[in-house]
Amino acid sequence: MSQELHKEMIAILDFGAQYNQLIARRVRESKVYCKILPFDISLSKLISLNPKGIILSGSPASVTQKEAPFPHPEILNLGIPILGICYGMQVLAQLLDGEVTSISKREYGKADLIIDNDGELFYGMKSPLIVWMSHEDQISKPPTSFEIIAHTKNCPVAAMKDRKHRFYGVQFHPEVVHTPQGKKIIQNFLFRICKCIPNWTMSSFIDYSVERIREKVGNGKVVCALSGGVDSSVTAVLVNKAIGDRLECVFVNNGLLRKDEIEEVIVTFTCHFHLNLHYVDAENRFLNKLVGITDPERKRKIIGGEFIRIFWEEARKIGKIDFLAQGTLYPDVIESHSTKGGPSATIKSHHNVGGLPSNMPFKLLEPLKDLFKDEVRILGKKLGLPNTVVDRQPFPGPGLAVRIIGEITKERLRILRDADVIVAQEMQKYEKFSEIWQSFAVLLPIRSVGVMGDERTYEYTIVLRAVSSLDGMTANWVRIPYDILDKISRRIINEVRGVNRVVYDISSKPPSTIEWE
Ligand code: XMP
Repeated sequence: MSQELHKEMIAILDFGAQYNQLIARRVRESKVYCKILPFDISLSKLISLNPKGIILSGSPASVTQKEAPFPHPEILNLGIPILGICYGMQVLAQLLDGEVTSISKREYGKADLIIDNDGELFYGMKSPLIVWMSHEDQISKPPTSFEIIAHTKNCPVAAMKDRKHRFYGVQFHPEVVHTPQGKKIIQNFLFRICKCIPNWTMSSFIDYSVERIREKVGNGKVVCALSGGVDSSVTAVLVNKAIGDRLECVFVNNGLLRKDEIEEVIVTFTCHFHLNLHYVDAENRFLNKLVGITDPERKRKIIGGEFIRIFWEEARKIGKIDFLAQGTLYPDVIESHSTKGGPSATIKSHHNVGGLPSNMPFKLLEPLKDLFKDEVRILGKKLGLPNTVVDRQPFPGPGLAVRIIGEITKERLRILRDADVIVAQEMQKYEKFSEIWQSFAVLLPIRSVGVMGDERTYEYTIVLRAVSSLDGMTANWVRIPYDILDKISRRIINEVRGVNRVVYDISSKPPSTIEWE
């Protein structure tokens, strides 16, 4: 059965729109496996993947431009159903004998869709449907073999179909939440048109993946850098399930972890999961290297470099190692081949600090590289990882170092740790805590005057940061209720020695970043 898992696949050809990962999310949520592929993938490669359907994505480009991205025209002759979304629909029109023209004013926002023919794509839906539009071109004449199946006030060809070839096009974006019935439209394409079977679940993924890991590793040995974060934890437990104690995990205490984190990681992975865990207490090594360092980039480089040295030393002690297991996720893989590059490419570069150089003498084992973050969380739960690990907020590789502005000392680490625990405890009581991407404390290097009892104080300031985000690329500051802010502030000032002021960061990303360094 597990060999069957990837047979039901949908190919999403990526023309560079910002919503492409959402298309993939909607397909995966419908329990169908899909891959985002470059728009100019060769015909033979595409055929070898044996897709049950093809989705042509949107794009910031215009099909009317000379340099516009186009897929191999023969994809129309493969006998595979196609759904073109926005630009993808215009690609269909342009490859056939339709016409696409620029509209004088870009249509952006919600529109009422009137269904003219409720065949397969709109099965079970009633007009008008609210849909999300975002386009500057539109189809002025559909290809001869197509019929119009929906329109809006401003867009006469809002959806079209060629029943004979099972080709469909929609001008709106069914993948975004602003098209409330969008997921149903995508599911109609998957199940009614492509006849997919919904068999992509995390339980089936475990069987599939365990088999693949065993095949790949054979009798070899695998090492994994375990940080206690979601991705490395799920990777370690999955690989352990496949090859047992031929997996060796290295957990480095860089002295920059949160309060109680070391004990939690050790207890979870040794007592509960019985992993081979090599714990390296390198606190002093890291902190000695960081003495006097205040520049954020230098901090990152020192921490990254030291981590690699320590990991190497430990790996050598273990003996011959064949594979290095890493928790690479699907979005990282997509970004590396995406047509757009975009801001994500630059933002991510500093995130690989904890990562390892590519010239290590191991082969890579990346069992999560087909998964999105929320799939990894479901997988982690299925593997028995506790919610405290699986639902963890992201934590940067350089740890608290990038949350201590200025020099890192043991005393300043103590202050930040004590404040951070209070933030975590109080934020967990917030009813919307699960919607928060990250919430944490930052320690500033400035001191200010306060008064405690009859005493004048001159102490540090803690910043409270809480943001909501989908992927860390953009973020909004969270409107935390005043009483929670008040409680956090009172507790930090009363309980944490060395702090007499708490402020709340109300900046969003961009132009700010989530972390302060
Ligand atoms: P910024 O601060 O760039 O952060 O808005 C975006 C997301 O990335 C995390 N982050 C890092 N993660 N190593 C990491 O592994 C890093 O050096 C690093 N810097 C930022 C940050 O916590 C947020 O989730």
